[in-house]
Amino acid sequence: MIEKNAIVKSVEEIQKGIFILKVESELSALEATPGQFCNIKVDDSLTPLLRRPFSICDVEGNIISFQFNIVGEGTKILSQKKKGDILNIIGPLGVGFNYSGNYENAIIIAGGIGAAPFPFLIEKIPNNKNIISFCGGRTKNDIISYKLKNVITSTDDGSEGFHGNVVELLESEIHKYDKAKTKIFACGPNPMLRALSKFTIENGYECEISTESVMACGFGICQGCNVEGVHSDRFLLVCKDGPVFNAEDVKL
Ligand SMILES: Cc1cc2nc3c(=O)[nH]c(=O)nc-3n(C[C@H](O)[C@H](O)[C@H](O)COP(=O)(O)OP(=O)(O)OC[C@H]3O[C@@H](n4cnc5c(N)ncnc54)[C@H](O)[C@@H]3O)c2cc1C
Ligand code: FES
Repeated sequence: MIEKNAIVKSVEEIQKGIFILKVESELSALEATPGQFCNIKVDDSLTPLLRRPFSICDVEGNIISFQFNIVGEGTKILSQKKKGDILNIIGPLGVGFNYSGNYENAIIIAGGIGAAPFPFLIEKIPNNKNIISFCGGRTKNDIISYKLKNVITSTDDGSEGFHGNVVELLESEIHKYDKAKTKIFACGPNPMLRALSKFTIENGYECEISTESVMACGFGICQGCNVEGVHSDRFLLVCKDGPVFNAEDVKL
């Protein structure tokens, strides 16, 4: 983990309210794992004071991409960055996805902006695996499938793809894949991850989930991002023990 200044190369609105920020940084030379994140100081000013965490979306040479939507002041400021602006970034942080193993089918479950870490994961998953991406949103405008492979969609309102949520979509499709040869990788809002974990635990699927928490330091000092663990009596830290966990290891 290092702290570095990065040069903004571009900020592009790829669909309404969804942005790809590309920065040039020596951080890209570090061996980042998909699912890890960076903590970005969006401005030099005192507000917002704290850094904001974003999953590493993609790494191409010395360019790192982040994918984000605007939810408050920090992300609004990021969306207005211009080519040549400087951002101070700490990363790569946390524990990412474990994409090695004997599975044949990599099933990606992305809820809305939860699609952010998966372009990088897809790039790293060995070529001999079959990758399928299930992307869910409230409406068709909320589905994000930037650089995803073999996309199958669901919407809560039925405006595109399967009518229902993305976990229900998975439940309706999963019989097509041999359980012993399938691994699930997921990121999205907590209610989605909770429903998915219940399904995968009850049905014996291997599943890793990328969780979210409001963060301050981003590397294990402030204890502000704790989540209850299943196997130990200590709380786990999303920033240091996660953000990616085995679904059976955390209580969301
Ligand atoms: C490990 C990690 C990786 C993330 N990766 C991405 C990513 O790739 N793309 C992306 O768009 N977002 C990602 N997020 C969420 C992102 O960090 C927040 O959206 C951002 O910090 C909001 O900053 P803001 O100043 O715009 O909004 P704020 O003004 O800080 O918050 C606006 C509202 O959003 C809520 N909020 C803020 N942060 C979170 C959070 N982490 N979880 C739940 N609610 C929150 C606040 O409580 C408030 O209601 C990630 C979060 C974590 C912890
Ligand atoms: S954000 Fe400070 S310990 Fe996790």
